[in-house]
Amino acid sequence: MTSNLGLYVHWPWCVRKCPYCDFNSHAVTGKLPEQDYVNALLADLRHAYRAVDGREVTSVFVGGGTPSLMSAEGFGALMSGVRSIVNLSASAEITMEANPGTVGAERFRAYAQAGVNRISIGIQSFSDAKLKALGRIHSRDEALAAIEAAKAVVDDVNLDVMFALPGQSMGELDEDLTLALKAETSHLSFYELTIEEGTAFYKRVPDQLPDVDLAADMADHVHETLVNAGFEHYEISAYARPGHQCRHNSTYWTFGDYLGVGAGAHGKLTVDGQIVRTVRSANPRVYLHNVELGVFEAERRVVEKEDLPFEFMLNALRLRNGVLRDEWERHTGLGIDVIDPVLTQLQKEGLLEKSERRIVPTELGRRFLSDLQERFLTVSVP
Ligand SMILES: C[S@@+](CC[C@H](N)C(=O)[O-])C[C@H]1O[C@@H](n2cnc3c(N)ncnc32)[C@H](O)[C@@H]1O
Ligand code: SF4
Repeated sequence: MTSNLGLYVHWPWCVRKCPYCDFNSHAVTGKLPEQDYVNALLADLRHAYRAVDGREVTSVFVGGGTPSLMSAEGFGALMSGVRSIVNLSASAEITMEANPGTVGAERFRAYAQAGVNRISIGIQSFSDAKLKALGRIHSRDEALAAIEAAKAVVDDVNLDVMFALPGQSMGELDEDLTLALKAETSHLSFYELTIEEGTAFYKRVPDQLPDVDLAADMADHVHETLVNAGFEHYEISAYARPGHQCRHNSTYWTFGDYLGVGAGAHGKLTVDGQIVRTVRSANPRVYLHNVELGVFEAERRVVEKEDLPFEFMLNALRLRNGVLRDEWERHTGLGIDVIDPVLTQLQKEGLLEKSERRIVPTELGRRFLSDLQERFLTVSVP
């Protein structure tokens, strides 16, 4: 099998919980159980890898939470453990997420020595006032310093920036865009701020949030500015210099396989022709306890054949260049004839285009993405 296989490792702690964030992240209270957690991750991985024993892992993504809270020693132990358990490709992309409030040049150097070759930094904004309003633990200067420190040790750096922030004007967004481009990284992710259920912002919605029209204009402005600067816009929020797309995330978006270890991590594997999804317990304490008992998965389900068209398209249609028809066949095990009637109908409606090789959402399709995706809910699968 030559397909990509990703490994996602979740680190569930942060210095503080940001008021907009609904990721599985918890503010650190007391001493971090770093060693116990690394041991649990490795036990979890040993168990998970059995299902795909020997298969080459093509990317590792250590996300969170704030994995850059890990000590150099802890991270080194994690990576050498990973290498001893899985068949890690010599050219694997190894990404680590970092918060500018938690890193220094030395820490970054140690992560790179342990194998990290891509660093993804949570910038959110370069405005100190906006950073404060977002409850971030770092300043603009710390963000700029973190970018330089990351660029000094790896070639591939991503910046996460959010837009449509409370009270944000087009001019302010422009300043963030200018600074993001000036940083000269190989990848940028621009996310529209969404108010997620269960967050502090959901309980008390901030004043002066841009309305839908302004937010859409901002998204267009981000697109035009970054594309004019030579970035390829390849997924709703993701922009890359040519050749620098994130391999790990692209595996998700093309319905590839990935192992997911750590609290709350999701995995998706093709096993004996079936697609199996796994979820770990989200609460770090419960996760640690379960692993001690040898219970790794909180949930495991086989994806029903009827659900494959929707599940596949949910991610694939996020990609601006869509997906190869081959990928549909390779990852679902179903023929193209299963979805061809709906593809033809959607093409007639101007929502997507299909060619010999590709299935690509049109601009209209991207604008009404959830409607487009939902059309695959009712495909009948023989
Ligand atoms: C796990 S965090 C990245 C690393 C680190 N935790 C940090 O925040 O610095 C993933 C990214 O998702 C984005 N994000 C989180 N919550 C969001 C929301 N409600 N709306 C839009 N983007 C969000 C942020 O840009 C954030 O950097
Ligand atoms: S945005 Fe990042 S730093 Fe903030 S709570 Fe979420 S995961 Fe933690």
